Amino acid sequence: MLEDKNVESKSFGHLMASSDEEGEIIPVVTSYWFENEKEDFVSLCSLTLLFSISEIECDLGEKVFLRGTTGDSLQKIYKQITGWKFELTYEQPEISVLSKDRNWITLQRPRKCFESIIRTILVTVYFLHFLRRNPEESQISIWDKMKKAFSAFDIIPSENDVLNHVSLMREAVKRDKDLTKSKYLLDLMEKGCSNEDFHEYNDEENVQSYELNLVGEQNIGYDTVCSICDNGGEILPCEGSCLRSFHATKEAGIDAFCESLGYTTAQVKAFPNFYCQNCKYKQHQCFACGKLGSSDVSSKAEVFPCVTANCGLYYHPDCVARLLCPGIDTEQDEMRKKVAFGKAFVCPLHTCSLCKKGEVKNVHHLQLAICRRCPKAYHRKCLPKEISFTLDYDKGIEQRAWDGLLDHRILIYCTDHEMDSKLGTPARDHLVFPDIKVKRKSVSFREGDVAKDVEKICCKKDTLFSSASVKFDWYRKYLKVKNMPVSNHSSPSPSKKLPLKGANLSCNSRLCEAKSLQKNLVCARTDKTGFEKPLANKIRTSLDFDNAEMENSVLSLVKESMSTFNEQEFIKSHQAFCSTSGLTETEFHKNLTQGKVEGSIKAVQTALQRLEEGCSIEEAKTICDPVVLHQLFIWQKQIKVYLAPFLHGMRYTSFGRHFTKIDKLKEVVNRLHWYVQNGDTVLDFCCGSNDFSCLMKSKLEQMGKSCSFKNYDLFQPKNDFNFEKRDWMSVNAEELPHGSKLIIGLNPPFGVKGCLANKFINKALTFNPKLLILIVPKVTKRLDKRKGGYDLIWESDEMFTGKSFYLPGSVDVRDKQLEDWNLKPPPLYLWSHPDWTSLHRKIAQEHGHMKEEYDVHVKNYLMEENHDCYQDYSGLHKHGDVLSIFDDIPCDDDDVADEEVATCNAQGQVKGTLFSDCGGAMELENRLPFDEAEEMCIDMELSTP
Ligand SMILES: C[S@@+](CC[C@H](N)C(=O)[O-])C[C@H]1O[C@@H](n2cnc3c(N)ncnc32)[C@H](O)[C@@H]1O
Ligand SMILES: [Zn+2]
Ligand SMILES: [Zn+2]
Ligand SMILES: [Zn+2]
Ligand SMILES: [Zn+2]
Ligand SMILES: [Zn+2]
Ligand SMILES: [Zn+2]
Repeated sequence: MLEDKNVESKSFGHLMASSDEEGEIIPVVTSYWFENEKEDFVSLCSLTLLFSISEIECDLGEKVFLRGTTGDSLQKIYKQITGWKFELTYEQPEISVLSKDRNWITLQRPRKCFESIIRTILVTVYFLHFLRRNPEESQISIWDKMKKAFSAFDIIPSENDVLNHVSLMREAVKRDKDLTKSKYLLDLMEKGCSNEDFHEYNDEENVQSYELNLVGEQNIGYDTVCSICDNGGEILPCEGSCLRSFHATKEAGIDAFCESLGYTTAQVKAFPNFYCQNCKYKQHQCFACGKLGSSDVSSKAEVFPCVTANCGLYYHPDCVARLLCPGIDTEQDEMRKKVAFGKAFVCPLHTCSLCKKGEVKNVHHLQLAICRRCPKAYHRKCLPKEISFTLDYDKGIEQRAWDGLLDHRILIYCTDHEMDSKLGTPARDHLVFPDIKVKRKSVSFREGDVAKDVEKICCKKDTLFSSASVKFDWYRKYLKVKNMPVSNHSSPSPSKKLPLKGANLSCNSRLCEAKSLQKNLVCARTDKTGFEKPLANKIRTSLDFDNAEMENSVLSLVKESMSTFNEQEFIKSHQAFCSTSGLTETEFHKNLTQGKVEGSIKAVQTALQRLEEGCSIEEAKTICDPVVLHQLFIWQKQIKVYLAPFLHGMRYTSFGRHFTKIDKLKEVVNRLHWYVQNGDTVLDFCCGSNDFSCLMKSKLEQMGKSCSFKNYDLFQPKNDFNFEKRDWMSVNAEELPHGSKLIIGLNPPFGVKGCLANKFINKALTFNPKLLILIVPKVTKRLDKRKGGYDLIWESDEMFTGKSFYLPGSVDVRDKQLEDWNLKPPPLYLWSHPDWTSLHRKIAQEHGHMKEEYDVHVKNYLMEENHDCYQDYSGLHKHGDVLSIFDDIPCDDDDVADEEVATCNAQGQVKGTLFSDCGGAMELENRLPFDEAEEMCIDMELSTP
């Protein structure tokens, strides 16, 4: 996971032969996680930090277990643990846990889905290890190296991570003089002390904040507060280019005394996607003068967006030129022309107005404090004293700055704005939406008679933002200080009214959602408290999404956009998809809006272009922070599976429907028929074109054997020989002959890492067939490794090399049927029920099928392929665990097979069918890059044959 060699961190931990203290063997555990008795994830924070075995572990009240795989023998491990320690003196930092039987176990790398829980501790230990060796290193270079070391993680490490573990750092410094040489560390601890009250409030809080990190932290500077009141809570992000969020309903705004956008809960639920009025009508305010102007580039745009990826602010060319080139008339004029001409610009909000330098998010004092009302920003270190973090009635100091509300930024109101003491903000009259009444006419003309309920209630500017009725905003104060204990000390007492947890929940809606989501996912229990509001409900329902609904919507979507990919269609489908899929509701809703994607891409393009034109790295970074790039990769990774059909259009197909070519099927038949006896039933559980059975029938007849046939598939084949349109998962034992007369095959959809193939096989095994003939990828769980194991009669690795498959209904640019082959061809396996093994082995020997046998035994699939597939994930693989999609897709365990079967719906569509086909690393004719092909695992029907 941690790859950078410069940081001496090739892998986390390394094998150690024996312990220094006790002399006992220390096993190394990898793919690990910790859980409690309820199988919920637990962080290391809930264990005692021990520096030697003689220290006393305290009674935790909760049992913590280590799960994972031993580094050497690849055995599963499940051990109760009581404490942990870290070691900084080796070349690599090392973390060990103490088992109940008092052995130290060294941890190697966490399981992917546990990363978010353990990440900040790993960052802290690595950070200490690095500082110990490089006490003089500059802050920027430290975090740069840390970033490289954690490049395999989804989240870039930062100071905030280590600030979560000040007491841990303090313990380390106490015991290791070398660490005291780092001034940066000492300073940081000093700073962190004040934060500690919050950060280490309690373990549960900690675990939750780690959970948040997985999805919530990476907001990369996007607004996490409502644009009306600048508070957190349940905020609804606009999909458009403004990149803002709002309290959408009065209820959502109530805690923050925000007038909100005034929608009803029902309206919010009904939004396929929310676009604010400014984005919808392409009328944005200039952030400098506040006036509305058209931002419609297709007609005559008056205001233009700042190019910085996470900004979303618009300016008149005049206004921004005056700000960027003050005083110098010719330059100003030049600039104005450029902006008016559409040339990308970076607005003043990304440069410190004092020192004129840019923002460095990961360096505390170089983070920016940005004014919410005008384009003025200061570095933390350059922030004028008048902009105070605290409120002091006696000295007449107003609070104008809040920490912790924006991601890596400080929220301020600069001294140009008069504070409204009732509101705790300047007057909230800063937003102007287009006059909808006028617009509505022209829009309904264009868009037809679609009822625009929404607009009726929306924004009469003066009433919406009148502040007369707004009471003194105690909560707001409280919420704003909650992440900033420095000011907490002097904050007025109402903060005590709320428990910290409550405050936390309403602090930031996206984090809230993430928190609730994570809780659901990780703990698989619903936490109702504090989430009765519309957005949360939306999310909750989406977690219980119905497979049929999801799949149907995806299917119709794909049909819609199957012609050729074009951007508009993509956007349309993205929207439709957003409104219905569970994944979207959680992952996308929170973080990924169309505006953000478009904005990020534009920023990347501009940054690249500028670099080509010879600008400095710094300048490029201002336009597009590397974090943005990182985020784009994460987004891409997350949605790749869904995008494949859109991106590859007709060149991509459906439901794992890579069919076996006839000549290959003939080869299978030529081998298999020897094992079939008179009166047997040959069953193809997903027959595709239904050629296999036909070929089998004629071969068997030729050999004088009379057999029965059964063929199933979700789709009607051209020939209907003994065909039944059925979901294999719905077939019952009563419908089939006894296992001793049953032969089942052949080529199931594979699924990610073979998970669909496993499902098909699990189902087949419930009928105890005497033979199973399978074309499946090697990652598929072997049948001799399952309960009631089958014996391998033979395996042919060679049969499907080359172009052995084709994609029905898919054509290339020349309308030629697409062929498809696998970089690693799936073998053909013949598995026998143990009662029949000796007979089948004899037949195999007689016909020379065994020659590959020795080959077979030498192979250890656990070593060869991604052995994650063989782990017991039953505890993790809970229904609705959408994030696991992005994890190593957990494979079936025999124990969960039944449960999985139960998730198939009446139309016979398997949930997992969405993620098919990549197990065999399929490559398309037009040669997609390997990993892309591997990830392209959405299997949907593009054309019914
Ligand atoms: C990899 S193709 C193989 C087709 C055929 N056996 C061959 O080798 O040419 C997998 C087939 O499984 C079908 N399928 C997918 N899910 C299914 C299910 N739940 N029940 C039955 N068939 C299914 C697909 O329609 C597809 O035709
Ligand atoms: Zn608000
Ligand atoms: Zn907007
Ligand atoms: Zn202006
Ligand atoms: Zn900007
Ligand atoms: Zn500055
Ligand atoms: Zn200002």
